This record gives sequence, structure tokens and C-alpha cells, in this order.
Amino acid sequence: MSIWTQRHVTVVVSGGIASYKALILIRSLMKQGAVVRVAMTAHAAEFVTPLTFQTLTQQPVVLDEFTTTDPTHVVHVELADWTDVMVLVPATANLIAKVANGIADDAATTTILATTAPKFVVPAMNSHMYANPATQRNLQQLTADGLHVLTPATGMLAEGYVGQGRLPEPDVILAWLTDQLIQQSADLPLAHRHVVVTAGGTREALDPVRYISNRSSGKMGYALAQVAREMGADVTLISATTNLTAPVGVTVVPVSSAAELLAAVTDVFATTDILIMAAAVSDYRPVDSASQKIKKPADHADLNLQLTETPDILKVLAVRKQNQYMIGFAAETQDLLVNANRKLTSKKLDLLVANDVSQPGVGFNGDTNQVTLLRPNQEPVTTALATKTAIARIVLETAIADGANKQA
Ligand code: C5P
Repeated sequence: MSIWTQRHVTVVVSGGIASYKALILIRSLMKQGAVVRVAMTAHAAEFVTPLTFQTLTQQPVVLDEFTTTDPTHVVHVELADWTDVMVLVPATANLIAKVANGIADDAATTTILATTAPKFVVPAMNSHMYANPATQRNLQQLTADGLHVLTPATGMLAEGYVGQGRLPEPDVILAWLTDQLIQQSADLPLAHRHVVVTAGGTREALDPVRYISNRSSGKMGYALAQVAREMGADVTLISATTNLTAPVGVTVVPVSSAAELLAAVTDVFATTDILIMAAAVSDYRPVDSASQKIKKPADHADLNLQLTETPDILKVLAVRKQNQYMIGFAAETQDLLVNANRKLTSKKLDLLVANDVSQPGVGFNGDTNQVTLLRPNQEPVTTALATKTAIARIVLETAIADGANKQA
């Protein structure tokens, strides 16, 4: 199930070199479960044939209003009424100008004018056309009329020079559209809930260039942030250094050390509904972090590091807990249940997600995980080995089943 499942999406394609990219976006929308129909301008049909769109969508393409052979149907109104979501991609300066002025002189613009569905506009054009005051004025008019406009990308244009006006890549458009839909869906299970996720392994500095850390990739935390967002939550992702790209629509707070992570979580704790501590927080840090790079001693003597414990963030917050639903993680290499149960109690958690990281495919770095979910006074539940996204969904569904989204 995605937010696109069974949604009726009308893609209006206007004529530009980027028209072919609409095909890629349509394929992605269909993969997400959307039912897509296409309306094209005559210029668009010069770039990509209607047959291509028809074959891809397995739906008739609306091109010319007056060529219908069925006298019982007003094609553009039928399509307009069928539409749940309308996407104008690529939207040329000409199409934007027409829509801003309510002009309906072909099937595509008539359908746009006739639909009451939310409309999303993805402009693509030459940079001078984009910068032209008339285009800017028209775009402002679209926004004032309640349409949603994506800012075009800057890069190499078909004309052979760099400028702003490129169609963003289809995956960027899809992420933007998805996030817009989430924002507009008040019935999602985590709508109006603030979910805070910590992710990645903290780094405890030895000197300006060296640190102590662990093998956490941050993938589990990022998957949780993404799924929480898909479930409608306002998500703050407090992220230690990772190689990952943050999900669209999520507020990222970058941190490095355990102390920074504690400060960042403390900052948002009062407004948090669900806290998910997926970060692998260092348990120890060097007592002193040298201000200059530590040199090798001339006599090659051993170097002794003195470490001191970091604050246990969950324990610190347990004392301040009001209605927050708190989820912790436990990566274990032995006695999983005994150790995990101890953490559930000592950290006063509502849910502990335990994994045996000595098992293949489980835990750090990989894309899969297998976890046991522990809750106070409930039988543990062990999941199958699954993608981290699937595990994230199970974790959040378990929290929701516990009423985590209802606690005021
Ligand atoms: O005790 P252990 O480090 O195994 O517990 C793991 C859980 O506790 C994780 O949810 C982790 O984010 C959290 N933790 C913490 N503060 C620390 C260390 C771990 O909140 N200093």
C-alpha cells in the first residue's frame, strides 16, 4: 500500500524537450499503484507520440477534443471528473501562461480548467523564458490560485548552456508529489504527530582528525524516518554522520557526538510524540579530545586512551518522560532476550527492538534486518528477515497498535 494506490492521476504533458521524462515519471507513479491517464498538447505530440503514452498507461490519451467518435461523452469533462490528482509535466511557459489566465483552447487546457482536483505544476523551459517577468508573474498567479509549483532545476539546458529551467529528475518529482500528498492527507495514522528518529553511529573525537565510532550505517533509522513520514508524521531525523540521503519532507538535524545527539533530542523532546532511538550511540568517549592532531611519541611508547562513559540518552529522557512513546534499539551478539528485556526495563521503554547482529543479514550496514519486538507485559514478537523499510513499518504499526499516536 502506498499513498498512490488506486489514485486517479492525470498527467498533462506539454511540448518541450523534457516531454519524454514524463514517461519515466508515469512509470514510477504506476509502480506506486496509481492509475494514470494522459492529456497532451499538440506540441507535446511532436516530441513524443500519443501512442507511447497510451501503450504505457494502457489508457486512451486525450489529445484533440474534437476527434472523439463517441457522441455520448464530453471527453475533457469526463477526464477532469475522473481525476484525483493532476500533474502538469513538463509545464512549458505557454501552458503556464494559459492556465494562469484561464485559457482553455485545447483538450489539455480545457481538462485543467474543468477539474477540481489538486494540481501540481512542474515547469521546464529555457532559463530566459523562466526568468521572464511574464512567466514569473504567471507562476505567482498559479500559486495564488492554489496550484503547487515545483522550482525547476539548474543545470545544462538543451540549448547547450547552464541555467535554471531544467525539469527535475523524475525521482525528485515523485518524491515532491508524494510529500505534497502526505501533507494534504489528514487521515494518515501519524498525521499531526511529531516523530523524532535518531540514526547512525556517533563519533567521539580523539583529536581534530580522529574519532571512535561503530559500524552503524544509519539505514534502519532512515527507513523509520521515511515510513513515519509516509504515515503522515512531522519527522525530525537527528542524524549522526552517514552516507545516506534524507527522505523528502523530513527535518534533518545533523550531529556528530553523543553529547550533540543528547542536546538535539533534548531540544525537541517536549514536542515529541514518538521517540525512536535507532542511533548507535557510543557508550564511551575519550576523556580529553586533543585540540591538535596527536603525534607519535619519539620513543614509540604505547598510547593509552582514557575513556569515560557518555550519558545514556534514553535513561536521561526517561526521567523527563510525559506522554512520549519511547522506542529503543538493542543490538546484541549474545543472550538476546535476557539483555533486551533488561534494557526494556532499565530504560523505561514502551517498545524495544532487539536484533542479534551476529546473524547473517541482520543489523548493521545491510539492507535487511530481523528483529524481536519487546513490550512491557507482552509476549515478544519476532519478525521474519525483511528489508529495513518493511521492519520500519512493523515497528511503527506496533507502536500505533499500542496507541502511540493517540497519547495527548
Ligand atoms: O545499552 P545499549 O547501548 O545497547 O542500548 C541501546 C539503545 O539505547 C539504543 O536505542 C540507543 O540509541 C540507546 N542509547 C542511548 N544512549 C547511549 C547509548 C545508547 O540512548 N549512551
